[in-house]
Amino acid sequence: MLAQRFRGAIAAAYPQAADADPLITPCKSADMGDFQSNAAMGLAKRVGQKPRDVAAAIVRHADLTGIAEPLTDASIAGPGFINVRLKAAALRDALSSLDSASLGVEPASPAKTIVVDLMGVNLAKQMHVGHLRSPIIGDCLARTFERLGHSVIRQNHVGDWGLPIAMVTARIQQLAREGRIDLAKLTLDDLDTAYKAAQAECQRDVDGLAAAKRFGLGPKALAELEEQVNGATESFNAARQTLVKLQSKEPQTYGVWQRIYEVTMKVCLDVCRMLRVNVTAEHNAGESSYADELGPMVDDLIARGIAVPDQGALIIRLDDPPKGADGKPLWEPIKEPVLVRKSDGGFLYATTDIAGIRRRVQKFGASEGVYAIDARQSLQMKQVFAASIKAGYATHPKTGEIALLAHAAFGAVLGEDGRPFKTRSGESVKLADLIEETFSRAAKAVQSRDAELPASEARAIAEAVGVAALKYGDLSTDRIKDYVFSFDRMLAFEGNTGPYLLYAYVRVRSIFRKAAERGIGESWRRAAFPCEQAAEKQLALALLRYPAAVRGVADSLEPHRLCQYLYDLAGAYSVFFDQCHVLNAESETLRDSRLRLCDLTARVLADGLSVLGIPTVERM
Ligand code: ARG
Repeated sequence: MLAQRFRGAIAAAYPQAADADPLITPCKSADMGDFQSNAAMGLAKRVGQKPRDVAAAIVRHADLTGIAEPLTDASIAGPGFINVRLKAAALRDALSSLDSASLGVEPASPAKTIVVDLMGVNLAKQMHVGHLRSPIIGDCLARTFERLGHSVIRQNHVGDWGLPIAMVTARIQQLAREGRIDLAKLTLDDLDTAYKAAQAECQRDVDGLAAAKRFGLGPKALAELEEQVNGATESFNAARQTLVKLQSKEPQTYGVWQRIYEVTMKVCLDVCRMLRVNVTAEHNAGESSYADELGPMVDDLIARGIAVPDQGALIIRLDDPPKGADGKPLWEPIKEPVLVRKSDGGFLYATTDIAGIRRRVQKFGASEGVYAIDARQSLQMKQVFAASIKAGYATHPKTGEIALLAHAAFGAVLGEDGRPFKTRSGESVKLADLIEETFSRAAKAVQSRDAELPASEARAIAEAVGVAALKYGDLSTDRIKDYVFSFDRMLAFEGNTGPYLLYAYVRVRSIFRKAAERGIGESWRRAAFPCEQAAEKQLALALLRYPAAVRGVADSLEPHRLCQYLYDLAGAYSVFFDQCHVLNAESETLRDSRLRLCDLTARVLADGLSVLGIPTVERM
């Protein structure tokens, strides 16, 4: 509303600069006012006047009737900021309209179909702390889009195909044949071991031989190594044959692969359940699901001259983006071309991802694709996006518009020593164990604060606190940065942490329990919001920023903005609670208005936490 009024004032004062942004921001300090317009400084250059004179002209033309106190020369501060003080009645009205089921977060129009790529585990590899961020960030972004009324399709792009998977399949098959493992009792640890062994078997000796030749070792050593290499080549060839069998779904081999898939996905989906990440089997769209599409797709790319031969391989050049309708290149030129087929005919990681975009845009009708993937894959993502645009696969079949493709890249999780997170003995920690440890530490923390909690409730509370700790710990730092994993810091009940925010919610809710105990009814639901005291007003202003905070996450793909918002809101509530009596307010009218403010605060906190993927509890 303020922006609109200031735009009118600017247009009236300076018709030649009517398009200028009024630049409304909250005031840094409450003594200055509630909001300020910073437009005068920029306008001054444009219209060739002094900033304070420009501010004075805006003030003269501004009509803030019904929203704020009238502006005067005293409203102008510093180089030309214009400070605005809202009218209590206007704040009250704004809060009343926020106080609805939607909490002011209106459905985006038009609603879009957005694909969120998250998780993306690989078959036969144990899940460790490195797999924590993609589901947490991806699910939070998906929830944000859903909250805004978009239609979201989650996709778990499982690494379940290709030669490495064939290698481990071949090895498992062989171990089963020799009676050294029982397929029915297979674990992800067995698979992880087999995967590493299979890789080593195919690789090791090739490297050894190359080294032996380079160092000029004697003929005996060479012969020995050569024999080993032949062994390795044998494993390699076995893997190749297995891949062919997998491609034709030869029952025995395919059955083993399916078992490997099942064992890996069980762990993956268990982790999602523990973390309250909304990824289930229906979201799985592994690389195998694209296998049959790659050949025809690459043929199409060749036929249209998009993919071109290069030393026996097939590449797409990305250094020559055509210009779009707006005259801007369709992508930032990339000097490294993307390889879509190797000279041996094999397809690559990128080929499947291009097929992924084709399916997501052409078949699912997505107009946006967001990828929650490690920052180290950023070149790959840029290439895949550009190649898909070049191929026309990213062009929406109905609107003809190019889908918005974004890499929500994230940094690494480090140990307290600043190196990749490991146990004391240097092993990587299984993700499920890490989550379980967080839950049990959370249980201890909760128990030590309230020994009275019944055991049944204690477990649920510990899980909520644990989930809050892990997710908030992850989401509250700028996602592109690395962060240090620390149980103590994440689980602290004070400071900018998940447990602190959960606790803030619980504290607000506890007022209503006390109110019920005192026989206070629900008359507060019809009360007018209080906006007289400074602390009430600050809390009201914080609440009003909620819809923008949610939209901010969708626009920037940066969940930490919502974390910061919720932390500020909890802070504003704390100040309010310290300074204003609620149940013991001077009058019942005031008590009821404050109760209504408390209720709105609790609902915004719970809603914001649910967008982050954090469940709330009523006690802790
Ligand atoms: N499996 C991949 C990896 O471990 C991650 C997949 C991410 N998603 C994608 N569409 N590329 O690196």
